[in-house]
Amino acid sequence: MQSTEPAETMKSSMIAVVGAGTMGSSIVVALLAAGYSVLLKETDQAFLDKGMANIDRLLSGRVKKGLSPEEAQLQRSRIECVLDFERFAEVDFVIEAAPENIEIKKSIFEQLDQWCNVDAILATNTSSLSITQIANFARRADKVVGLHFFNPAHIMKLVEVIPGLETSHDTVARALELAQSMGKLAIRVEECASFLVNRLLGRYMNESLFTLEGGVVGVEEIDKAVCDYVMPIGPLALRDMNGADIGLAVANFNYQEYGERFAVPALLSRMVEANMLGQKTMSGFYAYDKETRKRSGVNPELLKLLASPKKKAKTASAEFSAERLFLPMINESFLAMQERICQPEDLDAALMAGLGMRRGPLTLASEIGLKDCLAMLEASFKTNSGAVVHERFRPAPLLKRFVWAGRSSVL
Ligand SMILES: NC(=O)c1ccc[n+]([C@@H]2O[C@H](COP(=O)([O-])OP(=O)(O)OC[C@H]3O[C@@H](n4cnc5c(N)ncnc54)[C@H](O)[C@@H]3O)[C@@H](O)[C@H]2O)c1
Repeated sequence: MQSTEPAETMKSSMIAVVGAGTMGSSIVVALLAAGYSVLLKETDQAFLDKGMANIDRLLSGRVKKGLSPEEAQLQRSRIECVLDFERFAEVDFVIEAAPENIEIKKSIFEQLDQWCNVDAILATNTSSLSITQIANFARRADKVVGLHFFNPAHIMKLVEVIPGLETSHDTVARALELAQSMGKLAIRVEECASFLVNRLLGRYMNESLFTLEGGVVGVEEIDKAVCDYVMPIGPLALRDMNGADIGLAVANFNYQEYGERFAVPALLSRMVEANMLGQKTMSGFYAYDKETRKRSGVNPELLKLLASPKKKAKTASAEFSAERLFLPMINESFLAMQERICQPEDLDAALMAGLGMRRGPLTLASEIGLKDCLAMLEASFKTNSGAVVHERFRPAPLLKRFVWAGRSSVL
């Protein structure tokens, strides 16, 4: 249930948000709905105006869904816009949502450290930068924490709460408490590249491209199979929505951090080179009508980029299944559990709230059968001769242990 009262133990009900961009503005709307006042900081008036226009649009959306116009107006009146940090001495909790650039975060956290009360918690909404590194830009690393909202933050239920190496228990508790008071599912996730949900998502997004590159199944078949199975949107439609350029940057980052099992599909780079970025260039896995911006079918340009032409449907049904596409995500879940990235009982809930999955990867693993998951991974890991190893399928040691123990499910 969404709470309308600020967390009781918060000393003040005003929360500061740094940055009024995509995330900052939707975080503001989520805070207002939970009863908080907001101190909103930007770099200049034009960005503040843009952010406020976005907040107005999101509030109007809420009015269309039943919020009274008076309440929307009241909520809006609880925002104070500022262009400097002077008033930050009055807040106990700051959420930073500035661009994903370490130099910008450094400058902001150094200033927050100067202006905020010594007890104030400084949270960052970073998706990929290190919480520990950001924390050490402030002289109070114990009071810095990751508070990773999902886009759009006023709608998406999940918040990952990520302590850095020096973050105190009290800071984590206060961050969890704030997110819960906003009606969110707040899950503690230990620090790792891309955190929990995007790490697991990355494995599945890559696999969808390798499957397409394999030539046995087409764009629409992949998206449809996955939606029928467990997802609200197919991986290729999602890639078009978020942009291949963003996808490539994330994939390269994961590859750099985790190595070969996060190998980057060549197709993704080829699409970026060809400016086939998805909806933003009206050309991706799908083509888009220039006037209506609606999807008009599979992009004929894509076929030119695919190394191998699509093989006969007979082979497709033999080799492709939606379950197979989720194997790397399932395997990564066992690796994450092995690293104690989250409590096993939180894992499915996080993926369901973060990605809209109808069942999480651990439930899928139990449905497929842990033994069968392992057998499928082993079969894909090595070629028949045993010579070529495909790292993306190297079975997680913890999955093997579950199978050796004769367990049929994780929980
Ligand atoms: N966009 C997403 O889907 C998403 C999802 C989760 C997390 N994130 C993370 O959230 C953060 C913000 O992302 P975004 O997409 O909202 O970016 P954005 O570019 O839309 O917005 C960033 C805003 O911060 C402002 N800004 C820059 N320097 C500032 C400063 N010193 N003080 C105050 N404001 C400043 C910019 O003017 C801009 O309006 C990033 O760390 C990103 O990784 C993004």
